[in-house]
Formats: sequence, structure tokens, C-alpha cells
Amino acid sequence: MAELVVRRLLIDLEAPFARHWCGGDPFRTAFFNALSMSFPVGEQFFIDAVRNGFKALAPEAQARFRDEVQGFVGQEATHRRLHGLYNAQLERFGLVNEWGPRAQARLALLEGADPRHALAITAANEHFTAIFAEWLLRHADAVLEGAEPRLRTLWLWHSAEESEHRSTAFDLYRALGGNEAWRRTWFRRVTLIFLGDTIRQTVANLRRDGTLWQWRTWRSAARHLFGRQGLVRHTFGPWRAYFRRDFHPAQQDDAASRAWLAVNAGQYTPVGARPAPVPD
Ligand SMILES: [Fe+2]
Ligand SMILES: [Fe+2]
Repeated sequence: MAELVVRRLLIDLEAPFARHWCGGDPFRTAFFNALSMSFPVGEQFFIDAVRNGFKALAPEAQARFRDEVQGFVGQEATHRRLHGLYNAQLERFGLVNEWGPRAQARLALLEGADPRHALAITAANEHFTAIFAEWLLRHADAVLEGAEPRLRTLWLWHSAEESEHRSTAFDLYRALGGNEAWRRTWFRRVTLIFLGDTIRQTVANLRRDGTLWQWRTWRSAARHLFGRQGLVRHTFGPWRAYFRRDFHPAQQDDAASRAWLAVNAGQYTPVGARPAPVPD
């Protein structure tokens, strides 16, 4: 079982930041802002999925998972809270979160379903965030070049913790007897939905920003998505690995995440592994 530490980040997200906070680059700013908009709804869903999965376990298995589940819930709840502050600033820039309400409506369709469905969806999203996180941590100097220091810290801290808790939902799904066919089916569906939503919200942010049809926007998108250090090139292999029968999230590299947490210990204070009670 992974030991998941909840950390309080020592940054003030209530003080304003610049509209194009990511190095003055409209594309990178709009892309990260889009992802941030998905977190309050998405991470609440992950918390609920993991809590409900935990409740469905037999008592012996609950004892094995209790600390890890509490750490997972604490980490995701902290991410939600900070991204909520971040998103409040985006609203002041006139940006509109369309992703959150759309995701909420879609996820409501799962109410009453077997808790393993929500866990498989969570495990799929967690794989996405974990491989995105490793890419970002490894290429932070290019991808977050010139970024507002507080937001750089927020993204890298969030990434490190995503990498850290990448196995929790997957292990719960397995412990509840979740099968391989549904695990892959949900990963396929989550891939399409996640990519579609990311593109739609990024484009919506750029349109409201008035920078959608600028050459620099598309040049930056091409470079950061498809270039040598780009997202697609570095995450395609790890994305595909999820379909392997012997796949486990712990097989994914987490060296960059560990290194960031070690080097940046001055940016946060650990608040312990038991921040939020998990019902029995
Ligand atoms: Fe998170
Ligand atoms: Fe997560």
C-alpha cells in the first residue's frame, strides 16, 4: 500500500495573477486553465468513487486500504480546494467553465450503478493524470517557461501527488473483482471524452480571450503537443500500456515526481496522512 502524505502548499492563490500567466503564451495558459476547470467536479467524483469502493470492501480488505484511501481523499480534496481558488480568478478574466457542468451531467448517469464502474472511470482518469504529470514534471522548464511562480508550484505539486496516488483507484477496482474488459472499455471511453473536453474547453478559453486565431497560439500548440518535448510524443507509449493484461500503475516511472517532492520540501508542509475521515 502506498503511503500518501497530504501536503499544505505554502502559496497564496487569492492574490491576483496575470491573464496570460504561462509565460505570456495564450495557448499554454488556455490549456492549463482548461484542465484546472475540470478538477472541482472531476476530483469530487474520484473521491466519491474511491470512498464508495472502500465501503464495498470486506472488513479485512478495508483495514488494508484504510490509510491509503484517507491519503487519497486528503490529497484530492486539497487539489480541489486550490483549483477552486485558481478557477475563481479565471472567472474574473471572463472565462466560462463549460467542462465542469457537462461532466457533472454525464457523471450523474452513473448514479445507482455498480461502484466498480465509477472506480474504473477513476482509474482511467488517474492513469491519464499520472502520465500527464510525469511529462509535465520532466519538461517543466519548457512547458512552464516564464510561468507565474505560484502557478508553477501548484501544477508541479499537483502533478507529483497525482503520480504518487496513481495506483489507489486501480487497486480498489481489482480488490472488488473488477474485470479486465470493463477496465479497458472505460479507458477507451475516458480517452475520447477527456481529449474531447480538453480541446473544447481550451478552444473556448482562447475564443473568450480573443487569441484563438493568432499565429503564436497555433505555433505554441504545435510545439507543446507535437514537438520533441511535446505531450503526444511522450505520453503515447504510457497511454497504450494501460491496455496490457499485466499492466499496473506502479510500473509507470515516478522518478520526476519523487525528485520534485524532495527538492521542493520548502514549498509545502505535510499535514499527515489522516486529514479526512473515511466512513466504515
Ligand atoms: Fe488531483
Ligand atoms: Fe488523482
